[in-house]
Amino acid sequence: MGVLHLLFFTLSITTISTKAHNITQILSPFPDYTTFNNLLTQTKLADEINSRQTITVLVVNNAAISDLASKHPLSVIKNALSLLVLLDYFDGAKLHQLSGGASTSTTTTTLYQTTGTAEGNLGFVNITDLKGGKVGFGSAAPGSASNSAYKKEVKKIPYNISVLEVTEPIIAPGILSTSAPEVNITARLEKAGCKTFAALISSTGVVIVYQASADKGLTVFAPSDEAFRAPNAPDLSKLTNAELVSILQYHALASYSPIGTLKTAKGPISTMATNGAGKFDLTVTSAGDEVTLKTGVDSSRIASTLIDSTPLCIFTVDSVLLPPELFEKAPAPAPAPAGEPAISPLPSHAPVVSAPSKAPVSAKAPASVFSPPAPPLESPVGGPAEEPSEAADTADSAAGEVKFPALVKAVLSVSATVIISVFLS
Ligand SMILES: *[C@@H]1O[C@H](CO)[C@@H](O)[C@H](O)[C@H]1NC(C)=O
Ligand SMILES: *[C@@H]1O[C@H](CO)[C@@H](O)[C@H](O)[C@H]1NC(C)=O
Ligand SMILES: *[C@@H]1O[C@H](CO)[C@@H](O)[C@H](O)[C@H]1NC(C)=O
Ligand SMILES: *[C@@H]1O[C@H](CO)[C@@H](O)[C@H](O)[C@H]1NC(C)=O
Repeated sequence: MGVLHLLFFTLSITTISTKAHNITQILSPFPDYTTFNNLLTQTKLADEINSRQTITVLVVNNAAISDLASKHPLSVIKNALSLLVLLDYFDGAKLHQLSGGASTSTTTTTLYQTTGTAEGNLGFVNITDLKGGKVGFGSAAPGSASNSAYKKEVKKIPYNISVLEVTEPIIAPGILSTSAPEVNITARLEKAGCKTFAALISSTGVVIVYQASADKGLTVFAPSDEAFRAPNAPDLSKLTNAELVSILQYHALASYSPIGTLKTAKGPISTMATNGAGKFDLTVTSAGDEVTLKTGVDSSRIASTLIDSTPLCIFTVDSVLLPPELFEKAPAPAPAPAGEPAISPLPSHAPVVSAPSKAPVSAKAPASVFSPPAPPLESPVGGPAEEPSEAADTADSAAGEVKFPALVKAVLSVSATVIISVFLS
């Protein structure tokens, strides 16, 4: 049982560390910063700030932000505000040490640098000791001036978060003129190695549903082509059109949820397939920078961010997400007596007995609906799981590669079962 306690202990540490501060709450007592605070919430930068440790937020008052707030789309506002979030801890004392130090200027990384859209040194800010004890902030990009100056400390929790007021937003060259790019979702997915998914959302028309949501907020979890070839991926050719549509809608949220927002999500989140309380939802867990989506049947790691541009976010994921409404949960491993380990079958997504409306599927032999589990010593070519599905991209040779990790995962999960059974007994 000691192991379980240790496990719970570790889990609670993880939970606490992601809740170290709440920027919305920190700023709420200050009427001068209401616009800034609202923008942090709207752009979801608040989640990003809350999910990080050792951070400095440079705030500007309502008057100083009004131009930025009123003249630009949210995607531009987000970039500009990201430049005010420094990935280091600076309080008033540390800033004024600059004047006594050997160097009168320091360069620091901002949240803008982490978006992947900042070119060159656009994501960096220089903090400079100006004459007369003043400290200036400016873009590190060549030719930029220190256009913003330090005013005062607002709040500090050493050395987790510091909030400082500055005179105005830091403006990096071009940051205000980059308009939100017009994104062709399928083209972008194809380019990123998600051809199967792109083909499926086009052929089923789900892309139209996505596109209709894209103006108000859309987050897509696109499985890679490898994910569709994995042994536990559903055999798409055996699904009804309605089931396929549900699965594809299950891979998207009707909201803009960048990584920081997912990390701070509490409880299950609704997907575009959600059609009732608790139906077709996902839970999110994170450890450090690793974010995992859990369906109740399987789970998938978020592999990369393709686009994070308010209000659209597209991620690639490692596995096809299997909703419990269509795929049965893997049976919980029965506790086995020590020395007689329970060997559970490998990816065991036994089909749910279909409702009458799903006649085309339930008419078939249930076991044939989904790809059979990969037998451990299957030869690399021609196994049942390799049967190309209609929509699958057949172009390359990655099939051999997916087998191996899947096998390793299976072996690991069996070993974990054994270990847990041993400790429990
Ligand atoms: C700073 O963050 C750490 C890690 O999250 C936390 O343990 C600590 O309590 C925080 N410090 C303060 C003063 O809140
Ligand atoms: C942060 O505080 C705000 C306002 O006090 C609250 O609405 C919000 O739920 C809090 N966020 C988190 C992640 O606790
Ligand atoms: C910012 O600081 C770096 C390093 O000190 C320097 O190379 C660069 O020229 C500075 N940029 C500006 C715009 O002053
Ligand atoms: C988006 O890209 C696809 C190719 O992936 C193309 O067939 C389609 O016409 C494009 N759509 C628009 C609206 O440009």
